[in-house]
Amino acid sequence: MWTDTEITKRFGIAYPIVQGPLGGGISSATLVAAVSNAGGLGSYGANNLPPAQIKEVAADIRALTNKPFAINLWVDEGKPPRPNRQVLAATLAWFAPYYRELGIEEPDLPASFGQDYNAQVEAVLAVKPRVFSFVFGIPSNEVLRACRAQSILTIGTATTVDEARALDEAGVSAIVASGFEAGGHRGSFLQPPEDCLMGTLALIPQVAEAVKTPIIAAGGIADARGIVAALALGAQAAQIGTAFAACEESGAPAAHRDKLFSDGAKDTVLSSVFSGRLARGMRNRLMEEMASRTAELLPYPAQSWFTGILRKAAIEQGRGDLISLQAGQATPLIRHRKAAALMAELVRQTPRVLARLSR
Ligand SMILES: Cc1cc2nc3c(=O)[nH]c(=O)nc-3n(C[C@H](O)[C@H](O)[C@H](O)COP(=O)(O)O)c2cc1C
Repeated sequence: MWTDTEITKRFGIAYPIVQGPLGGGISSATLVAAVSNAGGLGSYGANNLPPAQIKEVAADIRALTNKPFAINLWVDEGKPPRPNRQVLAATLAWFAPYYRELGIEEPDLPASFGQDYNAQVEAVLAVKPRVFSFVFGIPSNEVLRACRAQSILTIGTATTVDEARALDEAGVSAIVASGFEAGGHRGSFLQPPEDCLMGTLALIPQVAEAVKTPIIAAGGIADARGIVAALALGAQAAQIGTAFAACEESGAPAAHRDKLFSDGAKDTVLSSVFSGRLARGMRNRLMEEMASRTAELLPYPAQSWFTGILRKAAIEQGRGDLISLQAGQATPLIRHRKAAALMAELVRQTPRVLARLSR
């Protein structure tokens, strides 16, 4: 039975399907609950939320489902130093024409960029989701021990075999092995992301040979064929991100969702311009106009703050040309706009694809 895997058993879910966490405001409690209620594992990408909001989100999800779900953070054991005043002023000058175009007043710089990761972790431990998933590193032993003590399962993300080995040694409950087809950030943490661009087809079997921990394949999976391929390669579940971001329940703005169903969906590229970290998304104007200035990009999270100001206003004005439109290479395969319909289709079609293979 395709549903009978180490992941479904360990995580208490009916189907080996994980809705990939969608950070930066793209997750919603409704999406997470829709997937978990349909027998998958819904995940909330909480990287941009302060601790109090993480607690609110967990309560919102629990009001909609009593099934397991994951909360996802970006591991951040030591931020890069704050860029100096001159660099920040230059970046502000660089963004000023875009701010003017959207009618935004020049913003005051915040005292610090990004969220306090340790406080976010405290919030996750306090709300005790069934699963804490993470990317961009491995939480400290102390945090992993606290998770085990509270029966919180953990999922780490690897973009290389070495990262998978490191997560295996740390004793996580499952490892997402993410191929470079995936939408969103390359969550690499042992090497620069530019050096971690293995495709899913090559990555999964190598990770399967290297680690004992169950694997969740991610990157380029948007339908039942992808799930069957992931299982055949040695994964015990498939993680799907972009196809769930395309659903009405997601927090993706309409301009983002609509472009996922357009011809532009076939044109995804890796770029650091929106956050200062390498991510796959659909090509648009800001990405193109900033492409020549990659040497001047600020590190995450400072770069994210500058584009975040643009994002808020651009979304209010229904514009997709100045916001990050994260999406993976399988985007043109997406057909569904409702999470329950997508889950139902995956659950219906996966055994059919398997049956065709064994005929
Ligand atoms: C809009 C968007 C935001 C994402 N944010 C996160 C995140 O915050 N944390 C994370 O672990 N993965 C994140 N991902 C990756 C997904 O969870 C998933 O692994 C990936 O989308 C799978 O590849 P696919 O896009 O081909 O389905 C994001 C992906 C997208 C498209």
